Amino acid sequence: ASLPKPVKIKLDEADPKIIKLRKTDEGAEPGTRVKILGRVHRERKQKGVLFITLRDGYGYMQCVLSGDLAKTYDALTLTRETSMEIYGELWELPPGAHAPGGRELHVDFYKIEPHWKAVGGEDAITNKVQGGGDPKGLLDMRHLTLRGDTASAVMFVRDAVESAFHQAYKEIRIRKVSPPALVQTQVEGGATLFKFDYYGESAFLTQSSQLYLETCLPSMGDVFCIEKSFRAEKSLTRRHLSEYTHVEAELDFISFDDLLTHLEAIICRVLEITLADPSAAAHIKALHPEFTMPERPFLRMKYSEAIDWLVEHGIPNEEDQPHAFGDDIAEAAERRMTDVIGRPIFLTHFPVAIKAFYMQKDPTDLRVTESVDCLMPGVGEIVGGSMRMDDYDELMEAYKRVGIDPAPYYWYTDQRRYGSSPHGGYGLGLERFLAWLCKQHTVRDCCLYPRYMGRCTP
Ligand code: 4AD
Repeated sequence: ASLPKPVKIKLDEADPKIIKLRKTDEGAEPGTRVKILGRVHRERKQKGVLFITLRDGYGYMQCVLSGDLAKTYDALTLTRETSMEIYGELWELPPGAHAPGGRELHVDFYKIEPHWKAVGGEDAITNKVQGGGDPKGLLDMRHLTLRGDTASAVMFVRDAVESAFHQAYKEIRIRKVSPPALVQTQVEGGATLFKFDYYGESAFLTQSSQLYLETCLPSMGDVFCIEKSFRAEKSLTRRHLSEYTHVEAELDFISFDDLLTHLEAIICRVLEITLADPSAAAHIKALHPEFTMPERPFLRMKYSEAIDWLVEHGIPNEEDQPHAFGDDIAEAAERRMTDVIGRPIFLTHFPVAIKAFYMQKDPTDLRVTESVDCLMPGVGEIVGGSMRMDDYDELMEAYKRVGIDPAPYYWYTDQRRYGSSPHGGYGLGLERFLAWLCKQHTVRDCCLYPRYMGRCTP
């Protein structure tokens, strides 16, 4: 067999400008000769012309290789994910044609270093990202599935949402702090604590930074953090992770109503900022075409009203009995209610017995707490918050009620000894927020490398 003819190189004297594949970049107008670097996202051959969609993490470019360029050994054996350096002239698309960014690159030269070639055949990425059809296989290949359109779109939105939280908090002058992850106190019950040996002492991975945020109020005013929280969840659900990103804030000298108003404002502001970013907005549109800004005020519903609603709608509790005051509203029931109502809900005033020890009681009904869960269609609870017990004696009583030794909590209790205040806060699960916003079935697809019972890899 004769070797393919060598390619004619038509490099300019000076190398052309390297561009990233963002449409808005300067020097990327039609008619410009540019150099681009990236990986082969897709390729197809049509009547001797090779069309390559190159991907660089910023965008995509359709590259058109014709004539001898499409006949080289590299072109004939090209595999997806191969890295390439491509030179060519940017053209506007002919009318009626479609390509990313509405343009294409007419290639006059390209280079593939030998070790840039992606494996093909049985090991080709297209075989790997099928995961054998099961989700476990897909998660084992997470490092490769992340290169796909949907997985990467969710990660782009995640980046935008995290920045939006920073901006939204800064706009209302809430300061960011960074509490520790290694702790010796629990916040949300002993059942989900990850325990480990800390130089011979026992310690835990933090379940929430709340208690530490509360200690910041007297010196820093209102504070927030975006940190990892850890829960040894022993069930496999589509909204529980062992490691998740927790957006938490704590506000000083507020009422319960102030807390709800703030929460609504921050959620809506974060959505506004995110949607004002054209790239994030485009990804959200693609992932969740029917997404609309939630109406304010959010529906406010007391726990006792929710129990009535569940009874009226024949949705049973976990023992398959009609719901009764005092029941924990299980995930399935909560989601059904939220889906039927179809808009964000602030579910408030949960009974003392089913909520955390630190929650302030409602002065008008001591059976319930000034607590709130924010529920979103498709996901259910994405936020948990409350006013905090601010009376020393009451807190000591609460430790006793739930069987917590107050000794290691001395630093938390001291907040009630050195200038107490009415205060409250909340924690929002970033992956759950994203599952709602990006219409993902599970929070596992809303983080880079999910951790849950049975998975700590890759
Ligand atoms: O309701 P939670 O347990 O509340 C707290 O941790 C409070 N101390 C927070 C605070 O007031 N500062 O958790 C808050 C939110 C939940 O609404 C949920 O979105 C998320 O954290 N979350 C989880 N997300 C993923 N996987 C898990 N296992 C989660 N557990 C809680």
